[in-house]
Amino acid sequence: MTHDNKVISNTRVLISKIPEGIAPNKSHFRSVTITEPAPVLKENEILVQNLVFSLDPYIRYEFPEGATESPVLGFCIAQVIDSKNPAFPVGAKVSSPSHWEQYTHIRDPYYLSEVQALGDIVDPKIPLSAYNGVLGAPGFTVWDSLNSIGNLKKGETIYISSAAGTLGQLAGQLAKRKGLRVIGSAGTDEKVAFLKNELGFDAAFNYKTLDKRVALTEAVGKAGLDIYYDLVGDDTVEIALDLLNQRGRILAVGILAAHQNKEPYGPKNLAQIVFKQLRYEGYVVFGQYENLGKFYEEVTPLVASGEIKYKETVLNQGVETIGEVYANFLSGAYVGKVNVQIAEL
Ligand SMILES: NC(=O)c1ccc[n+]([C@@H]2O[C@H](COP(=O)([O-])OP(=O)(O)OC[C@H]3O[C@@H](n4cnc5c(N)ncnc54)[C@H](OP(=O)(O)O)[C@@H]3O)[C@@H](O)[C@H]2O)c1
Repeated sequence: MTHDNKVISNTRVLISKIPEGIAPNKSHFRSVTITEPAPVLKENEILVQNLVFSLDPYIRYEFPEGATESPVLGFCIAQVIDSKNPAFPVGAKVSSPSHWEQYTHIRDPYYLSEVQALGDIVDPKIPLSAYNGVLGAPGFTVWDSLNSIGNLKKGETIYISSAAGTLGQLAGQLAKRKGLRVIGSAGTDEKVAFLKNELGFDAAFNYKTLDKRVALTEAVGKAGLDIYYDLVGDDTVEIALDLLNQRGRILAVGILAAHQNKEPYGPKNLAQIVFKQLRYEGYVVFGQYENLGKFYEEVTPLVASGEIKYKETVLNQGVETIGEVYANFLSGAYVGKVNVQIAEL
């Protein structure tokens, strides 16, 4: 692995096209090492060394039409090692759309527009990996979706699925800070204990070992449910529709079941939306970044002081292992944001 301004030896992971109905596993990934001349940059282009990759559920869908094998595009904390762009000088730390590889030449204007300088944002008390998760696009998604479409009110009850994941952890804590009663579900007893004992959820249950309808009905109790923060997009929504109070809301933010290639599910009780005058609204973060500054202003000090907690996984290992880690991550093997660190920070 070298970059000496003349030659780059670059190890990269490729993903093969995964048939419909199959969850990704390690056999769908392979790594190759290419040694080639370092790119000669044109105006605005940068060359980055990738440091810490963020593993995100949507990644498997970034597949070019008609291809059978493709490089994998994800997000990464990276360091600029060559630059023709004054906004990103050599040495700068950036959040970068990078392929799963050691070095990425960013030249496409669209991808260049997605590079974010971290210099003014990073708080030295907070590990850089947090800028992939609680203080990255996932964290902003939660903060912005709750503020823009959540209409959270003190005393209400919110239920969050995949609550021990990157988005779920923050959603529960932000809702708690606004005075809501917070219920979460997760796929292991260890995650459930973490939600209750460390993040202060009022109730949590294991959706794999308990009957979801019984467990959620019990947790909700007489007060009923006011908001379902849906990160999974599966049959859970049918239970929520039955438990929601008048004027309740479903905030549809994630589709983890679809990433796992679970059979698509349509709720049979949509009439509840009419009877109870519910609001069922989707949220997508892309193009919604106008309040990013406010998010950093509000959430960074809370993370730095420990008032907002987050559990993440940082695996310090070779780039060639990312595919296997990704497949394990989708099946719930880790807690919180999963980062793969491939170089010294
Ligand atoms: N709308 C937007 O703009 C936006 C932005 C960012 C992310 N998202 C989406 O939000 C969702 C959550 O993202 P995340 O990064 O926070 O993921 P995450 O929850 O950290 O994802 C991994 C976890 O998902 C859980 N999981 C996997 N399959 C599941 C299923 N079928 N049902 C319930 N839980 C399941 C697993 O934990 P368990 O052990 O609990 O099963 C696993 O640990 C994803 O769909 C992501 O694409 C949306």
